[in-house]
Amino acid sequence: MPEGMIGQGIGASPVRVDGRAKVTGAAHYASDMAVPNPAWAFLVTSAIARGRVTAIDETEARRVPGVLDILHHGNMRGEVQEAGFFAGGGYAGSSLRPLEDDRVHHDGEIVAVVLAESYETAREAAYRLQVRYAEEQPSAGFDTEGAEARDAKDAVQGHEDAEVGDADAAFAAAPVKIEAAYETPTQHHNPIELFTTTASWENGRLTILEGSQYVHGLRNGVAKQLGLDPSLVRVESPFIGGAFGSRGSLTQRTALIAVAARRLNRPVKLVATRDQGFTIATYRAETRQRVKLAANPDGTLVAFVHEGTEVSSRPDPYKVAGTQTTARMYACPNIRTKVTILHADRNTPGFMRSPPEVPYMFGLESAMDELAHALGMDPIELRRVNDSTHESVKGLPWTSRGLMRCFDAGAEAFGWKDRTPQPRSMRDGDWLVGYGCASTIYPTHLGAATARVTLTPDGRARVQTAAHEIGTGTYTVVAQAAAEGLGLPLEKVLVEMGSSELPPSPVSGGSNVTASVCAVVMKACEEIRARIAAAAGQGPLQGRDPATLRLAEGSLRAPDGAAEPLTEAMARASNGAIEVYAENIPHGLPEGALKSLYQGKPALGAGLEGKDRVMAAFGAEFVEVRVHSRTAETRVARILGAFAAGRIVNPRTARSQLMGGLIWGIGSALHEATEMDRKRARYVNDNIAEYLIPVNADVPKLDVLVLEEEDKATPLGIKGLGELGNVGTNAAIANAVFHATGKRIRTLPIRIESLL
Ligand code: MOS
Repeated sequence: MPEGMIGQGIGASPVRVDGRAKVTGAAHYASDMAVPNPAWAFLVTSAIARGRVTAIDETEARRVPGVLDILHHGNMRGEVQEAGFFAGGGYAGSSLRPLEDDRVHHDGEIVAVVLAESYETAREAAYRLQVRYAEEQPSAGFDTEGAEARDAKDAVQGHEDAEVGDADAAFAAAPVKIEAAYETPTQHHNPIELFTTTASWENGRLTILEGSQYVHGLRNGVAKQLGLDPSLVRVESPFIGGAFGSRGSLTQRTALIAVAARRLNRPVKLVATRDQGFTIATYRAETRQRVKLAANPDGTLVAFVHEGTEVSSRPDPYKVAGTQTTARMYACPNIRTKVTILHADRNTPGFMRSPPEVPYMFGLESAMDELAHALGMDPIELRRVNDSTHESVKGLPWTSRGLMRCFDAGAEAFGWKDRTPQPRSMRDGDWLVGYGCASTIYPTHLGAATARVTLTPDGRARVQTAAHEIGTGTYTVVAQAAAEGLGLPLEKVLVEMGSSELPPSPVSGGSNVTASVCAVVMKACEEIRARIAAAAGQGPLQGRDPATLRLAEGSLRAPDGAAEPLTEAMARASNGAIEVYAENIPHGLPEGALKSLYQGKPALGAGLEGKDRVMAAFGAEFVEVRVHSRTAETRVARILGAFAAGRIVNPRTARSQLMGGLIWGIGSALHEATEMDRKRARYVNDNIAEYLIPVNADVPKLDVLVLEEEDKATPLGIKGLGELGNVGTNAAIANAVFHATGKRIRTLPIRIESLL
């Protein structure tokens, strides 16, 4: 038996239950699923970022044999209504209606959909479709004319900036201070699975096969767009080839493919190209930030000001506002934050792994390193003197906070004591050596969830919940929860997910799913246990208090060791299967959270939004970089992360998530950026040859330490960790580069030219 198979409940490390299916090709992703006699769609996207489509000449395109139809604004018949921007109570990643009229709102907007008998035919015809434009001067965002800046307080529902004490006065009067500007670039998710949609109709019912992080959101959003009752729309997304936020909200393509399938009266398949993926889905918007940080000579913070400006589209005020996190990170009596949204002629940005924390924690954690240097203090000690059991904006307690334990364990394992504090003081031949560190944090978002658990008389369980396997191991951890709750071996648990026909679960975003879904599955299992225990009076467990009976190792067990095999105990309680449908609203979420869930709205709460407490996972990240003294080539030589994230459901998959985050952090700090032609507001490197990400040769020895942490705030004590790993890495690397070279780089990514 492989080591990973020992123990199968919560806390064990079984290998992924879907691992074999994935590596053998048996796992079918949405676009792999066969439909009879499909037509193929190819998108035509705009060649300008702002203006109008003045004419579409179909003649040449229609001549290609096998072309079936061409959808564009001129022949839409009002089939697609607005689904609403998700952050304003709607469903979509943008409030724009696809092919609504002749206006072009951003580069790469869908302007036509060509339908044909084959993919190649559709592509050929799309190339021959002649679209003429009247171009207007677009604004790309920063440093271009015409962008419109709006205070996030006015632009975004519910946005609050922090205002504690008088930060500007305290800063002015403080003995030690730093003030600096930081910049983070546009980044695109680039999941390996392209953006695909297959739509088919049967008797007025629509089936959509599409990789989605939120099948209920997609179903309800498309239903709204097409004027259908949601029960007539089915969304299937059994596996997802990467998402990272890009499949979190409804995008414009889905309804168009559904309309195409209805017009042709046959299934339609779309596989968008890699470059189209840059503009038909979302991305991480660039930010510019100003940080002011001041302290007493002993390092205690006296003032913190964090101002950030984020790019968004013209119509939609998408914001990440990571100041919500940075303002709460350390003890500080005077805090002021401000977020500004810069509306430009861009597609609407959206969630991308750890959306608020990645850019804003780069600002704060770089500034903390700058302040430590100004104070002549070790950067870990600076964090220690400002550690706090309570967050600083409302004074609410952290449910648990493992930050300094992570720094201590991480520093020990990394060998931080070998660092000589002076920048440029460590060297290995031609290479300048630098050690850097940074804090990481990710709020514990939780969502209402539902699940159906069925125990059949043969002692097998089936768990049904519309969560999503986004590559993180959700099938496995949900199976572990049921195995734990019912005392069954993992192979007796079948998990069904990724379909809108199943009981709704929240959006698979914000690292909430393991905590939210395991909680409701455990709740269902507890009810099954209670029913079986209540019927145990006649058997070998006669006389025991049902409340003390547990399901474990395939039996119903009393504390004194008496036991009855599960199938026999179960037969007393039921003539057949026992099926329980459970609903759960985590502490701190409103009653309305369940209603929102059934409407397909991504209502997550808790985290930093709790009314009586705040909850987050923490960590400390350590990096050794080597910068070549003559060429400025920069390499990460070692990276170590120590994390405390409550109860770990599966240490094996947790480690994979954290490792993946650290690796992404390397890419984010040193490689990744979507470059723009700022004059035309168009993305330039919209392919994965020129959009740089780390390859194996860029990834050094990685160490992941996961510390034990008991958090009693929720019944299971689980904190999400899927987005925790990459938050601190940008700053840890930049801080290490400063230590190696004496050069403080405040604009990401850090490239050779940054250091020359
Ligand atoms: Mo994630 S960016 O919360 O899908």
